[in-house]
Formats: sequence, C-alpha cells, structure tokens
Amino acid sequence: MIKIDESKCIKCELCVMSCATNAIKPKEYTVRQHRCMGCSHCVAVCPKDAVTQDDKIGEFIEPHNITPGNFENLIYTRKSIRNYSKKGIDNETLARFLDLMKYAPTGTNSQKTFVTVLKDRDFISGFAVDTIEFFKKLTKLAFNPVTYIFVRLIMGKDKCKKMFSYKKALQRTPKGKDILTFNAPLVVVFHASPESTTPDMDCNIQASYSSLHAVTLGLGTCFNGFITRGLNANKKLKKQIGIPKKNKVYSTLVVGYPELDYKKRVIREDLKVNII
Ligand SMILES: Cc1cc2nc3c(=O)[nH]c(=O)nc-3n(C[C@H](O)[C@H](O)[C@H](O)COP(=O)(O)O)c2cc1C
Repeated sequence: MIKIDESKCIKCELCVMSCATNAIKPKEYTVRQHRCMGCSHCVAVCPKDAVTQDDKIGEFIEPHNITPGNFENLIYTRKSIRNYSKKGIDNETLARFLDLMKYAPTGTNSQKTFVTVLKDRDFISGFAVDTIEFFKKLTKLAFNPVTYIFVRLIMGKDKCKKMFSYKKALQRTPKGKDILTFNAPLVVVFHASPESTTPDMDCNIQASYSSLHAVTLGLGTCFNGFITRGLNANKKLKKQIGIPKKNKVYSTLVVGYPELDYKKRVIREDLKVNII
C-alpha cells in the first residue's frame, strides 16, 4: 500500500508524474489505492522519502557506469553453454543470482512468476534422463505412419522437419546420457499460472535477465526447450519437483561454470528489420 507522509512531502509532483495509472491525485497527494499497480515508481522518484510502499522507503541505487560498449560486450559474451566444469555454485553466488530475478519487469507488474531451483546433481541427472526417454517415446509416436498424418496437419512441414532431426538426435543418445543439462550443477525452472496477465513473457524475460546476470557472476547458462516442454507434458515429473498443478512452465535455464573460453562473437544472420 502506497502512503504519502504529508510532513515530509515538498509537493514537487514527481510522484504524480511518475504514476502510470493516475493513482495519485495532483495537489491533494492522496492515493487512489484501487488504481495502484504497486510498481513503486512514486517511491523511487521521491527525493524526500515521503512516499512509502508497505512502509518501505526503497534503497538508493548508484548511478550506473555501464557504457554501451560494456553492455554490448556482455551480450557478445553470453553464449549457450553446453560444457560445464565440475565446480559447484556456492550459496552466496546462488543467492545473488536468484535475488536479482525479481527486478525483471512483468506485465501489469503482476510479479506472479515462480522459480524452482534444482541443485541436487543426482536428481538432475535422473530427471534429465527421464525427460530424454519421454521425448524418445513421443517423437517415435509422432513419426508413426498413422499419427504422422495428424502431426503434420497440426504442426506444419517446417516444425515436423525440425522434430525429425530431434528424433534422430535422441535416437543417437545412449540410454542414461544427459544431453539436456550437460552435467551442470543447477537447473532453474520458471513457471506461472496461465491465468496471470503475461505469464509466458514474464518468465522468458526473467530468464533472459538471469542469463545475462549469470555472465557477470562468471556463470554460464543454456535455455532448454526440452525440459520446459517435457515438464508441461509430464505431470508426474512436474509434481515431483513441486510445481503447482495450475502452473505452466515457460522457461528453463541450465546454469553452471563454463568449461570453454569463447574468445569471439558468434556469427549471426543480418537482422530482419523494417524501419518505417
Ligand atoms: C527458447 C529456447 C530454447 C532452447 N532450447 C535449447 C535446448 O533444448 N538445448 C540446447 O542445447 N539449446 C537450447 N537453446 C539454445 C539455442 O540453441 C541457442 O540460443 C542458439 O543456438 C544460439 O546460440 P547462443 O545462445 O550461444 O547465442 C534454446 C534457446 C532458446 C532461446
């Protein structure tokens, strides 16, 4: 709940200007709580600690000294890491990594994302192998001559082609080999209720923020679409890791210390852009 302390307020109107939902009445400085989405921009902009949210005044931030070059270098540095060293992630680093996640934006500031952290390596291996076996069965079924007619109709030619290459890769994988988490020490699953405002985007933005933050902590990450899809399709596995039944998994990050040192940027196609 937003409160404005009259005795501290200098009537600068910055809180009024910063409010996206016109929740603060100009000149009166009263808060229409029903309009407030709890973004706390009014708290963050107040120069006198007159505005509080849930009785908190907010913490000051240092002016950032990240140059565009620094940031661009961070983007070039992030790679999907598929080789991890055996080094585990200490609790302090993990706490720092997790704590930043809540600062990612969410649609209507709903903040309804959940994060499940798997850090027991034996469990992760078993879980990855189960997911691989699940996809081996699923792709085998999809390319059965009868079912394929329907799969092709629903998914279209391009997706089927991609799925066929996955089927081949899965078939080549010896039973028990973990090609999903690459023996990384951590797997982070981002999930939310499909009924929240923008659950898919919220989870993916949160995961993207985390993948960049990870680089600054010396960590590497890899998004994993198989685990994301596998969890949604496999209720037993989802339950096993305590994801609420009503939640859908939207993103998964594999996390650990990279074993390879990439010295160059990746090669990318030119951006498909239209400036009007
Ligand atoms: C939504 C999403 C799902 C992905 N799923 C997988 C996956 O299941 N396995 C994997 O090895 N990489 C996965 N990746 C990583 C992509 O293959 C990778 O981002 C792409 O090849 C570009 O490489 P880079 O991330 O190193 O720039 C995924 C990436 C995204 C964004």
